[in-house]
Amino acid sequence: MKKALKLVGYVIATVVALVALALVSVYLLSNQKLNKSYQVSVQPVVIPTGSEALGRGQHIAATRGCADCHGADLAGATIIDNPAMGRLSGPNLTRGRGGLPASFTDLDLVRSIRHGVAPDGRGLFLMPSSDFSEFTDQDMGDLIAYINALAPVDRASVPLTIGPVARGLLVAGKIKLSAELIDHAGVRPATVQPGVTVAYGHYLAAGCTGCHGPNLSGGKIDIGPPDWPPAQNLTPAGDLAKWSEADFIMSLRKRTRPDGSPLNEVMPAAFGLMNDTELKAIWAYLRTLPPAPTGKR
Ligand code: HEC
Ligand code: HEC
Repeated sequence: MKKALKLVGYVIATVVALVALALVSVYLLSNQKLNKSYQVSVQPVVIPTGSEALGRGQHIAATRGCADCHGADLAGATIIDNPAMGRLSGPNLTRGRGGLPASFTDLDLVRSIRHGVAPDGRGLFLMPSSDFSEFTDQDMGDLIAYINALAPVDRASVPLTIGPVARGLLVAGKIKLSAELIDHAGVRPATVQPGVTVAYGHYLAAGCTGCHGPNLSGGKIDIGPPDWPPAQNLTPAGDLAKWSEADFIMSLRKRTRPDGSPLNEVMPAAFGLMNDTELKAIWAYLRTLPPAPTGKR
């Protein structure tokens, strides 16, 4: 009897030790990823002045969902706050107290938005720079002009606390840092010609690939937490084959499909703020995609 109890004790102690070891390994391995330094050569972009540039920059910020994570005033917001994933907040991007420090230069903004890398070289967590890294120099310049002109708001940015599940997903490669995915040496075009063209649609649809996949075939979203629903197939192999251009525009603006079913809130509302030219261009581009089986990225 005593012997059996002793055995059970050993088994429990071993299990506890293994769990502790696993947790410590996940913690150390995730720290290795989070603290990895990315040395990128950041090319400066021209930051324009004038109300037209600011208007264009505001439109880019509004239609790419910066407010979803950085708050309506871009002065910071909490995105996720639970013990499993951690407390994840988009920092204050204004120059108020608690916002971007005075030492944060335009080049640092390019490094964050285009490369997903903080001034100290670490890869930004959750910031979807891989969706923004192909912005032309002009779009990047307009966006930065707009950020620099934001009304200063005093609000302390909440430091990220990355929870055990988020760390596990990071170690397993289920969550990736944008900095791991971006072609840092790639050359971005200076400008792109807006218009209802496949080329312009292709350019804009880069912002859909983070969730719908590089070939837009949908499936499990790599960058999101496990409770996010899969993204739909946007190639002609999906439901969109049966949609019209008007159906597509309505689905993004009104957030309902042609059959009346609502879109899940993970599908960002911001894209519905794109103008007709932008949405028609994306539609024109989606029509040219080769059909791909759902989730076959
Ligand atoms: C899915 C949420 C999300 C979206 C969308 C998003 N961000 Fe972020 N962003 C973050 C998080 C989280 C951080 C902090 C990451 C870290 O510190 O590791 C961040 C960091 C930044 C930083 C660096 C700030 C600093 O203090 O170091 C800048 C600049 C930035 N984001 C700009 C933007 C812009 C501009 C857009 C829209 C084009 C945008 N973000 C969209 C989540 C997001
Ligand atoms: C943050 C992740 C995310 C991004 C970025 C994103 N989507 Fe989605 N999208 C989703 C999810 C998740 C769904 C599934 C929603 C549902 O099941 O209700 C979806 C569904 C859709 C649908 C409905 C398709 C159908 O067959 O019902 C369309 C259309 C769509 N997205 C277009 C786009 C376009 C165009 C872009 C880029 C401009 C984009 N999405 C960017 C996550 C995203």
